[in-house]
Parts: sequence; C-alpha cells; structure tokens
Amino acid sequence: MIHIKENHSLKPYNTFGIDVKARYFFRANSLEELRDVLENHRDCFPFMIIGEGSNILFTRDFNGLIVQPAIMGISILEDDLEHCFVEVGAGENWDDFVRWSVESNLGGIENLSLIPGSTGSSPIQNIGAYGAEVKDVIKSVKYLDLESFETVVMSNPECNFGYRTSIFKTQLKNRMVITSVVFSLSHNPVFNTKYGNLQAEVEKMGGLNLEKVRNAVINIRRSKLPDPGILGNAGSFFKNPVVEAEIANKLKVQNDLLPLFPVSEEEAKIPAGWLIEQCGWKGKRIGSAGVYDKQALVLVNYGNASGAEIYDLAMKISDSVFDRFGIKLETEVNIV
Ligand code: FAD
Ligand code: EPU
Repeated sequence: MIHIKENHSLKPYNTFGIDVKARYFFRANSLEELRDVLENHRDCFPFMIIGEGSNILFTRDFNGLIVQPAIMGISILEDDLEHCFVEVGAGENWDDFVRWSVESNLGGIENLSLIPGSTGSSPIQNIGAYGAEVKDVIKSVKYLDLESFETVVMSNPECNFGYRTSIFKTQLKNRMVITSVVFSLSHNPVFNTKYGNLQAEVEKMGGLNLEKVRNAVINIRRSKLPDPGILGNAGSFFKNPVVEAEIANKLKVQNDLLPLFPVSEEEAKIPAGWLIEQCGWKGKRIGSAGVYDKQALVLVNYGNASGAEIYDLAMKISDSVFDRFGIKLETEVNIV
C-alpha cells in the first residue's frame, strides 16, 4: 500500500528554498511504486516529477501530485579494456556518481563535478559545464512511458540532445519518467581543460589526473556560484542565447568587449551573464530577490523571497536586456 503525503512542504525540495506546498507528494522507491502511483492517480489531478529541485522555480502552491523517483543503484553492465558501461538509478545524486566515477578511475564526467541534482535529471537539459556535456557519455536512457506504462530504452541519438535541451524537455515532457541512465565511461580518460581558467587551476595542483580535474572544477565552481544550502538559487536562470553570426558580429562591432563563443559558421553563443551585467543588474536586489554579485546569470533568494518575486525580477532583467540589445533571453529554470 503506497502512502501519499498531503499538503507537503516543498521548501526542502527546491534549491531556491521557496516555501510552497504540494497538495499530494509521493517518493517512489522502486519502479513498481512509480508505476503504481502514476497509473492509479495520474489522471485525477495535475502531476509533476521532481528530482532534487535544483532547476525549478515554484511560483505558487502545486495543487496536484508531485512524484519523486528515488530509484537507486550504480551497477556495472559491461567492462572491457576501454569502456565501462554503468547503469545509474534516477534517484542517485549526480555528484555522488561523479565522485564514484573518479574514485573508480573512470573518465568522462569529471568536468561535470558538483552540478546539483539527481542522475535521472541529467539527460533532461543535457547538463553541461567546463567544456563538457553529459550527452557525450550517455549510451541510453530508460524511462517509464506514461501512456503504456511500459519501460522504454532510448538510445543516445534518439534523445535529440542539444545545448540545454533533449527530447525529454520537448516532445516527451510530462509523458515519461526517467528511471535510469546508462553511461559509457572510459578507462583511458582524455582530459579536457580548455574552458576558462580550468587549465590554470589544474596546474596549481601539480600534475593531471581525474581527481585533480574534479577538485579544480569544484574550486572554480565554489568561487563563482552560490551554495544553495546557504543562498537559495537554481544555477543559471537563463540559457546563453545562440544567435545568427551576423547579429553577433554587429553587436561585437558596437560592444568591443563582448565575449563571443562560435557555435558553427552560422551561429554564435553570447554569455547572458555579460548582457545582464551590462544592463547594470549584477549584485542588485529587489526585496528578498537578487542577482548574485559574482555571477549575473544566477538569481538568488536572500531569505524569504516568494517564487513570484524571483520571477518578476527575472522578467525585469529579460526586458532590459531586450530593450538594450534586442536579444530575447530564454529561461533555463523550469517555472512552475
Ligand atoms: P529538478 O530541478 O528536480 O527537475 C528539473 C526538471 O526535470 C523538471 O521539469 C522535472 O519535472 C524534470 N524531472 C526531474 N527528474 C525527472 C525524471 N526522473 N523523469 C522525468 N522528468 C524529470 N546545470 C547545468 O547543466 N550545468 C551547471 O553547471 C549547473 N550548475 C548549477 C549550479 C547550481 C548552484 C544549481 C542550483 C543548479 C545548477 N544547474 C546546472 C542546474 C541543475 O543542477 C540541473 O538542471 C540538474 O540536472 C537538475 O536536477 P534535479 O534533479 O534537481 O532536477
Ligand atoms: N560573464 C560576465 N558577467 C557575469 C557572468 C559571466 O561578463 O556576471 C561572462 C564572462 O565573459 C565569462 C562568460 O560570461 O567569460 C562565461 O561565464 P561563465 O564561465 O561563468 O559561464 P556562463 O556562460 O555564465 C555557463 C553555464 C553554467 C556552467 C558554466 C561553466 C549556461 C546557461 N550556464 O555559465 O551552467 O556551469 O557555463 O561551464 O550555459 C547552469 O546551467 O545552471 C550553470 C550554472
């Protein structure tokens, strides 16, 4: 018999620390429990899936059922001289898995150290940092289909991964629950330390190995990003806009210092943090909602901000970026 909690506080379940409630809340410890709760209750009221709430902004109470898949386990499926294929349950904490991989001397995800959240969420927005994206090590994703209630295994190419997107965030949104992910990790890691000051940070540690890259990434992240345990936030609030090269080049002519990252011959990525800082928002605060003083792309909750306050601040920021640069910012955070 499954036990669904009622009027459950979501404050511990979202890294913004927003104080809202779910009408019903259920933590599913197995595939059977997940299937049971969703098959029997999904149509009764609105539902949503939550991982560790590190990419969600709740703007009000959720008058429906929230389900947290807590399917655990890290198991080696296949191991040869080059690769190790590992299946990880959706409920495993992402950074615990990264630490496990580094301790097991398996390469591929060390640059993605300290990203908050669960492993089941990692394919959804194709988490990325320090020159790496999780799509490059995902072999397949297993999910529970919410029409047939069968499990489906989707291969990497079918997942339509892109910059902060995948099929799970688009066509399959609200139609499946990811239950596990299979990763292909390497016994012969190829180190990638080109991003920003990562190489310099690794050099400070003397030598190059998986643990040093992980520690270097952790040091840089701690120096730039607020710890959600201390200051509520959800990482980058907006995506970095990808614009036509022609538009980017015009902006560059007008703004000499604009940092541009070419994506292809036709497109370039513009750091949203730079655009927001230029509009004067860095370190600004309206009530309890603010823009982090070390990273303008991160919005923070100074204590008891409501989700609506944070959302209002985000919209003011995006309007001012549009007015000044003609660029529309798209939120990375899922607004509920
Ligand atoms: P949640 O926030 O709980 O959910 C996110 C979305 O996925 C929701 O729409 C939810 O409904 C859905 N979902 C969750 N689990 C499942 C599932 N099993 N099946 C189906 N749908 C599901 N992201 C990066 O890419 N790079 C970074 O460098 C980075 N840095 C961050 C730093 C900080 C300080 C913070 C707070 C966040 C950062 N993020 C970063 C964002 C966040 O860590 C990732 O998006 C993470 O993958 C979210 O995981 P979660 O379990 O918390 O997902
Ligand atoms: N910048 C500014 N001012 C700022 C912040 C950034 O000018 O306040 C400019 C700087 O020129 C800097 C450039 O933006 O060189 C890039 O900044 P940074 O390296 O901090 O990365 P980002 O583009 O702001 C992205 C990801 C992060 C990820 C880092 C490191 C997105 C939306 N964000 O941030 O991911 O950790 O790169 O790879 O792509 C997240 O998704 O939640 C997240 C934190």
